[in-house]
Amino acid sequence: MTTDISGIDLAAFIGGLPKCELHLHLEGTLAPDLKLQLAERNGIELEQKTVADVEATYQFDSLASFLAVYYPAMGVLQSAEDFRDLAYAYLTKAAGQGVRYVEMFFDPQAHTGRGVPFDVVIKGYRQGIEKAHAEHGISAELIMCFLRDLSAEFAMATLMESLPYKDWIIGVGLDSDERDNPPSKFAAVFARARKEGYLLTMHCDIDQVGSIDNIRQAVEEIGVDRIDHGTNIVESPELVAEVKRRGLGLTCCPVSNSFVTSDMKATEIVSLLREGVRVTVNSDDPAYFGGYMTENFSALTDKAGLTPAEILRLARNAFEVAWLTPRKRDGYLAELDAYAESFGITA
Ligand code: HPA
Ligand code: ZN
Repeated sequence: MTTDISGIDLAAFIGGLPKCELHLHLEGTLAPDLKLQLAERNGIELEQKTVADVEATYQFDSLASFLAVYYPAMGVLQSAEDFRDLAYAYLTKAAGQGVRYVEMFFDPQAHTGRGVPFDVVIKGYRQGIEKAHAEHGISAELIMCFLRDLSAEFAMATLMESLPYKDWIIGVGLDSDERDNPPSKFAAVFARARKEGYLLTMHCDIDQVGSIDNIRQAVEEIGVDRIDHGTNIVESPELVAEVKRRGLGLTCCPVSNSFVTSDMKATEIVSLLREGVRVTVNSDDPAYFGGYMTENFSALTDKAGLTPAEILRLARNAFEVAWLTPRKRDGYLAELDAYAESFGITA
């Protein structure tokens, strides 16, 4: 990536862009060196001894094969300090890439299911958020995801367990293996979450069996406030129209897409952007896919030939669909617009 036709240095523009990340799994930020460090701290004997050994286990070409590597790796996370250090390390990295605000997924069941108490997980993450805010000025909120390949009863019990920590959780999501686990399986859980005041999002992963039906369920039956991935709507003009009518944001993850499917879905993402869908760019599981926010913006820009105005639109979309108060949203947008204006680009 060099300059665009108007002479703007795109790498510099993307590098300094004030960013908002909305699709980021905290457990997906477990970098190989931190994994090794935590294993040592906790007296866990890993088969892998070096960063290269850990990276060599990153062999996946589908959502299911990725998840088969991803969940076992979390075994090194045990104490509140471990969760704190994980969140702090990611937020430090993100702040260095110009991320101002992030809504981060966490998977409590991946920890409670192996005996780590819910409060250890959330207190650790919260400490990491506070430390990163104090030291780097980055702000973050938590979105609690349910594991869709586990039962609706376990999800409901987890929802109940989260209630004392409501002030630390902005919304709920749904992740893990979508195959045979449609949104409707969790209709009662999401209805209760809504009653408890949580905002709602859900993964609608790329190229799944029944993608379109699942997205329709998420939108119409569950009434989600946002969709994670969801680019398969390009196959359905009525769904595109409905997503636009409802003003729903789509949290797309170009680099991640290129690992779990045959390509980054740049054509689909950009065609939705140009149709006026509120598409955003995110990193998903950056430690596994090797791309944080800047790399995701750059990869999509290179692949799709985005203009500076389109890059700005993607960044604006994220602040616009984020679960921010109007005052905070306006503050971030003003900062973003002033930055773009310094390059001669207006929203
Ligand atoms: N999809 C489903 N589950 C996940 C993902 C994802 O993108 N990332 C981490 N868990
Ligand atoms: Zn995801």
